[in-house]
Amino acid sequence: MKDLMTQDDLKQAVASAARDYVIEHLPPGAILGVGTGSTANFFIDEIAGIKDRIGGTVASSEATARRLAGHGLRVLDLNEIDAMGIYVDGADEIDASMAMIKGGGGALTREKIVAAVADTFVCICDASKRVETMGKFPLPVEVIPMASAFVSRELVKLGGVPKLREGMVTDNGNVILDVHGFSITDPVGLEAQINQIVGVVTNGLFARRGADVLLLSSANGVQSFLR
Ligand code: A5P
Repeated sequence: MKDLMTQDDLKQAVASAARDYVIEHLPPGAILGVGTGSTANFFIDEIAGIKDRIGGTVASSEATARRLAGHGLRVLDLNEIDAMGIYVDGADEIDASMAMIKGGGGALTREKIVAAVADTFVCICDASKRVETMGKFPLPVEVIPMASAFVSRELVKLGGVPKLREGMVTDNGNVILDVHGFSITDPVGLEAQINQIVGVVTNGLFARRGADVLLLSSANGVQSFLR
């Protein structure tokens, strides 16, 4: 039976474990940050059932805000709040130091902002996202449109192979370069280096502020790891 679990079953299982984590660790009435992506969507559907004990949510994208509001969850502007207990989001890759690549869905900048405010970042993903060395998943970099050619040349100097994500405009009106070819042995260093390039809004390495808790779903169940 376990062998028949689909990717969606694994996402559902970890989303429901994250709901239980919220019930256990978020004081009733407190603010919850909510990420973006298919795993986060399962989580949003899960917390619809506990909306009365959540004071409000902050969304990391317009899509997430719409889904939260659709379930009747209160969505707040980040500027309206001064503290957030927990932020729950997926990842595209996560390494043993709890550094992540995020931004497959293009929401990396708002995700990084909301995560920065939260006391605890809870990463939810299936075991396929756990890697020894990050970089197989192309690293998303959000860029001011007029700077995309310049930033691409600078990323090549760092050893990457950037590709403009066709047809993608972020919630902030910018473009995404997906950078192939990195083998990321120093996530904190590379995150800082890319952010130094003029025209970069932010990059999808979440290393300086990685995950505090990882809930990892596999056919054997959901395992919990702490940073
Ligand atoms: C969205 O921009 C991303 O950071 C997502 O959190 C990440 O891509 C994981 O998405 P899935 O849960 O859809 O794999």
